Amino acid sequence: MTDIWPDHLFLVGCGNMAGQMLARWLACGIDPARVIVLRPSGKAVADGVRVITDYPTALPAGTTVLLGMKPYQLADVAASLAPLCGADMRIFSILAGTPLADLRAALPAAGEIVRAMPNLPVGIGEGVTALYADAAVPPASRQVVEVFIAPLGLAEWIADEGQFNEVTALSGCGPAFLFRFIDAFARAGEALGLPADQAARMALATVRGSASMAALASESPAVLADRVASPGGMTRQGLNVLDADDRLLKLLTDTLAAARDRGEEMARGE
Ligand SMILES: NC(=O)c1ccc[n+]([C@@H]2O[C@H](COP(=O)([O-])OP(=O)(O)OC[C@H]3O[C@@H](n4cnc5c(N)ncnc54)[C@H](OP(=O)(O)O)[C@@H]3O)[C@@H](O)[C@H]2O)c1
Repeated sequence: MTDIWPDHLFLVGCGNMAGQMLARWLACGIDPARVIVLRPSGKAVADGVRVITDYPTALPAGTTVLLGMKPYQLADVAASLAPLCGADMRIFSILAGTPLADLRAALPAAGEIVRAMPNLPVGIGEGVTALYADAAVPPASRQVVEVFIAPLGLAEWIADEGQFNEVTALSGCGPAFLFRFIDAFARAGEALGLPADQAARMALATVRGSASMAALASESPAVLADRVASPGGMTRQGLNVLDADDRLLKLLTDTLAAARDRGEEMARGE
């Protein structure tokens, strides 16, 4: 079988997000001996993964670097990382709101740079990772990237870097919106008189089962919804509430727009 893993993976920062990505790659078989993590705390990451608190004097040829610290730390990190970079190194940046041009300016000697916006379920292989690279990254390299990201879940290239805030609003922030939905779904059952713990279990299992079913179905979720709603029945009556004046659609559009707008404000330093 072809080896899908980079020969050497260097993580700069390994907190909530990069930690989830690495956990999944390790679970899927990357050799921990290929991985080095730099984190100021020096906290252990996983068996066999070397953790360092300062930069090495050199990185092996062909290293893939994952930038997993906070975006505002880019200048600090680049001061130490840039001299270690060569044209044979691929940089993955998960730094929210940090454009390719800033990454390129910070790490001018690095090879291909790919922006990635993962979400938290990558840790269980059910995440979504939006990817962006410019024309300097040819199709063959994009394929290597896709294969490396595939264990994390769905990978989607976006054509326009300007849409990063939109994809972040949808899939990056999405888990929080859906956690909120599941909670509200359960509390609505409780409001109708069901025991809270039972409503919580049933709400979560209903969402999980419906998402799995939709993922397997050939029809769209919109068609599936109408298919389970017979005219005059209970489901149709409930859907009528969600559908009235497109209220669910409007609520979600407003939710994503607010998240997107905040991303734009943060990019302007507000
Ligand atoms: N959380 C999300 O859902 C999400 C989604 C998509 C993208 N992102 C992006 O992921 C990045 C990390 O976010 P996070 O939520 O994972 O943050 P986090 O949990 O605070 O992790 C930050 C990591 O950076 C390390 N670090 C701190 N100072 C550093 C320095 N000077 N040099 C190198 N590493 C340093 C920390 O080290 P210690 O471990 O030693 O403290 C930690 O491992 C951000 O750029 C964010 O935009 C996050």
